[in-house]
Amino acid sequence: MTQDELKALVGQAALQYLTPGEIVGVGTGSTVNKFIEALATIKHQVPGAVSSSEASTARLKAIGIAVLEASEVERIGVYVDGADEIDAGGHMVKGGGAALTREKIVAAQSRRFVCIADESKLVKVLGTFPLPVEVIPMASARLVRQFAALGGLAQVRMKEGSPLVTDNGQHILDVTGLQVADPLAFESQVNQWPGVVTVGVFAHQKASVCLLGTADGVKTLTF
Ligand code: 5RP
Repeated sequence: MTQDELKALVGQAALQYLTPGEIVGVGTGSTVNKFIEALATIKHQVPGAVSSSEASTARLKAIGIAVLEASEVERIGVYVDGADEIDAGGHMVKGGGAALTREKIVAAQSRRFVCIADESKLVKVLGTFPLPVEVIPMASARLVRQFAALGGLAQVRMKEGSPLVTDNGQHILDVTGLQVADPLAFESQVNQWPGVVTVGVFAHQKASVCLLGTADGVKTLTF
């Protein structure tokens, strides 16, 4: 199976975690796009969605699903999103699509986080994928030095020759060279550095379930 087919497989499998009549939280990325395609087939059972990005909002609206503000909804049953890396404990690296802050907000509001990923995303230790960190631009240079002190190389993510600007009007640092052995402690540590909006380690908001697309079908990991 191709990677695209594996993504479609887990996007479809995530439907079984939804409760008819309940608002769903929707993440961002190519795997989530497959989930949104699957969602279109049961849209009459979905009263609305809370979205983690402008990109997913546009796709949800295109299939006729109402998109609500996070502030309009007290509690979301299930949040479905992809990951750049996931470890055996359900801790993830996210933010490859630059939507990590809104993803963490919607995840924090949700009872269950259903991670959908192809098997290439399962790792022993987080850190091979460059770690995305959303930052306030005026803090970038100092934060690059703070990551260097931990042994990481942080670079401002660029788009068409300029720093990429997130949906929140901020920048992204991508950090290579780190091994995140203790995801909970690492997330707590970096989150309190002034100028960090969100670090892309999801340990406090880890997955409850991971649907992993493999050559043998969907493997379900629970945490
Ligand atoms: C976006 C994310 C995505 O979930 C992550 O990048 C995985 O994306 P894809 O499904 O395209 O591999 O965190 O900010």
